Amino acid sequence: MVTQTDNLNVQATDESTTPRALVCDFRPGLEGVPAVQSSISYVDGKAGILEYRGIPIEELATRSTFLETSFLLIWGYLPTEAELAEFQHDIQFHRRLKFRIRDMMKCFPESGHPMDALQASAAALGLFYSRRALLDPSYIRAAVIRLLAKIPTMTAAFQMIRKGNDPIQPRDDLDYAANFLYMLSEREPDPLAARVFDTCLTLHAEHTINASTFSALVTASTMTDPYAVVASAVGTLAGPLHGGANEEVIEMLEAIGSVEAVEGFVDRAIAEKSRIMGFGHRVYKVKDPRATILQQLAEQLFDSLGHDRHYDIALELERVVADRLGHKGIYPNVDFYSGLVYRRLGIPTDLFTPVFAIARVSGWLAHWREQLAANRIFRPTQLYGGEHGVHYVPIDERGPVQLAP
Ligand code: CMC
Repeated sequence: MVTQTDNLNVQATDESTTPRALVCDFRPGLEGVPAVQSSISYVDGKAGILEYRGIPIEELATRSTFLETSFLLIWGYLPTEAELAEFQHDIQFHRRLKFRIRDMMKCFPESGHPMDALQASAAALGLFYSRRALLDPSYIRAAVIRLLAKIPTMTAAFQMIRKGNDPIQPRDDLDYAANFLYMLSEREPDPLAARVFDTCLTLHAEHTINASTFSALVTASTMTDPYAVVASAVGTLAGPLHGGANEEVIEMLEAIGSVEAVEGFVDRAIAEKSRIMGFGHRVYKVKDPRATILQQLAEQLFDSLGHDRHYDIALELERVVADRLGHKGIYPNVDFYSGLVYRRLGIPTDLFTPVFAIARVSGWLAHWREQLAANRIFRPTQLYGGEHGVHYVPIDERGPVQLAP
């Protein structure tokens, strides 16, 4: 049954002109419409629960590591000691980039956004590793290893290249998180910083069918290669309503400038109906559980490495937004505190979203595997709202176009 019919000739169409019965209401943004059956992660937005393969995010954040969690997400179970050691070893072995990939990245404009560089680099992996064998388990495993291994190296390489330096080679004695921080600065990170960063990756690894994961699934459903799957997801994650919000949170906190200015900022935003970045979520109507953990991580870092005065502004902002917009379920989401953590770790602001992508590769790959196991190409329908029977008018007979207001 169709409910949203204003100005629409309500008829679902495909390539043929045959009308088809709609099986559900039209929901802009597909809000609440199930697109897949999945057993990878679970969110209860009213209770503030997030589970990966049934395990609460709080347990994984405190007891697991990013690579162990990635194994869990992608293969569906917690690895044995030997399986985890092999997984970590293989990823470490494949971290380096071919010199031609580095040369290709050197041709990227240094003023380009790192998310665009990452999307292009991820897609280019398909050129360098072009064999496509989606029915071969060894191909699937190799693609998983390669993407988890190389996406951080490519992110760090672009950071070095745009500063006019050569990319820093990965260091085999450093684990996944510590090595990424090292490749950004050529300095071995503080152990607390490396551990906090690893936890951040775990928190961002997966989050059901959001926009970028849906994008990955649509691409995967055509049976294309996994590099195209990840590249399309990176492109989708880049937008400010999705992964790009963490970058904008920092800009917003800087623009607010002081704790005293927070109330006025929030009241103006509400009056102007503008979005307060880092708040609100399609699913969570309470504080995002990842925001709670990230806030604790931020406090640990500030205690050890020094305070950030923007944290005081953030705390006040959380208080005032809860007061003014809490009744609409608007609370901090994952992006609200992550930027403050990343900044204290020395990560440049425009790398926040690529860091999100580094983590989310494991979720995208988990969904890619799940999609391949029961694939059906995505092909939704539409509600056609245009005209019929219109005739071509030669250019010299056309009057001015009347644009709709
Ligand atoms: N600031 C102020 N008001 C808000 C906000 C916000 N950040 N988010 C939602 N609202 C209001 C909105 O104006 C609307 O009010 P009303 O019913 O009076 O018109 C109501 O809440 C519902 O908004 P919506 O647009 O229907 O909600 P949505 O589910 O479509 O949007 C969202 C979800 C994340 C796009 C949105 O909350 C938003 O734009 N937030 C700011 C950007 C942001 O932080 N994005 C990161 C999302 S979490 C990580 C990720 O997914 O990557």
